[in-house]
Amino acid sequence: MKNMNIAGGPQNVPVIIQGCMRIPDLTKEAAAKVIRTAYDCGAAFYDHATCYGQGAAEERFGEAFGLTGIKREDVFIQSKCGLCFERNEFDWTKENILSSVDDSLRRLNTTYLDSLLLHRPDVIFEPEEVAEAFDILKSSGKVRYFGVSNLVPMQIELLKKYVKQPLIFNQLQLSLDQSQLIDQALYMNNKTTEFSLNRDGNLLDYCRLNDITVQAWSPLQFGFFGGTFVDNPDFPELNKVLAELAEREGVSKTAIAIAWVLRHPAGMQAIIGSMNPDHIKDVCAAADVTLSHHDWYALYLASGKYLP
Ligand SMILES: NC(=O)c1ccc[n+]([C@@H]2O[C@H](COP(=O)([O-])OP(=O)(O)OC[C@H]3O[C@@H](n4cnc5c(N)ncnc54)[C@H](OP(=O)(O)O)[C@@H]3O)[C@@H](O)[C@H]2O)c1
Repeated sequence: MKNMNIAGGPQNVPVIIQGCMRIPDLTKEAAAKVIRTAYDCGAAFYDHATCYGQGAAEERFGEAFGLTGIKREDVFIQSKCGLCFERNEFDWTKENILSSVDDSLRRLNTTYLDSLLLHRPDVIFEPEEVAEAFDILKSSGKVRYFGVSNLVPMQIELLKKYVKQPLIFNQLQLSLDQSQLIDQALYMNNKTTEFSLNRDGNLLDYCRLNDITVQAWSPLQFGFFGGTFVDNPDFPELNKVLAELAEREGVSKTAIAIAWVLRHPAGMQAIIGSMNPDHIKDVCAAADVTLSHHDWYALYLASGKYLP
């Protein structure tokens, strides 16, 4: 597995993260196999959120981790808080951040999170409260590093005015189909296409300029959890180019789709979500593939974009 150093954060972490959103569906034994497979592939970095299965994902992981024989200090465990679907609100209050972390630690059966991300914007958040919560979590040793998810530049700036700890990650949707983070720069000022819409305030460039590592979520999905585009007959051109490059590199099409994310010079991590050990092994091979400049464009154009 290729590793990377996170600016202002942990060193030597894998470029591929194992997402755990889909883990509640597994038995404890099957979950242990997923955790072990990712570990053996070098992707010993696990992404969680308090809302995945309303706590069930963290709980299943906590039970299963004990079966793997892996040491806690040999893995990186990340969770996210702030989405409270059971209450129909997003909540970044100090009280909710602190109690969410305590709940996550209990369910994950650990004493610390390697990183904590604020999951989606609570649009009435008070940055002073977030800062107080982060100070408490940092000084108590409950959280090592902090970041955000699905957050635009000005809200990150607002947080940074108050929060002392560096915000080292921004977890964002990015796949060959959902490439809006990239599209807007290419089609800028073009009234004839929706690809030109600036939906997030030049977020990708902002993250690069501010040493915030992007973690790309749902890197194999089309739409909003529409399913995977790989081997999907609705994406014939994309699958043709994926297959050609997969054959050339001796890896799966899914590995090429992930290698496309990793090829971006922003230096991203990709969060995969498979719960199938064979698929996980296939996808992790992406870390050993370096696509050329031309390959990157060939895939991008095959996904339905064009050169303006
Ligand atoms: N911050 C956020 O707002 C946010 C939002 C969504 C997700 N996330 C994070 O991102 C992670 C990944 O999301 P995701 O699960 O949507 O990612 P994904 O890797 O794009 O999709 C995984 C899904 O594709 C399926 N799939 C079908 N064929 C596959 C193949 N050949 N290889 C691999 N997968 C295949 C998997 O099924 P199998 O299990 O059968 O392989 C699984 O259901 C989540 O676990 C979560 O940690 C974050």
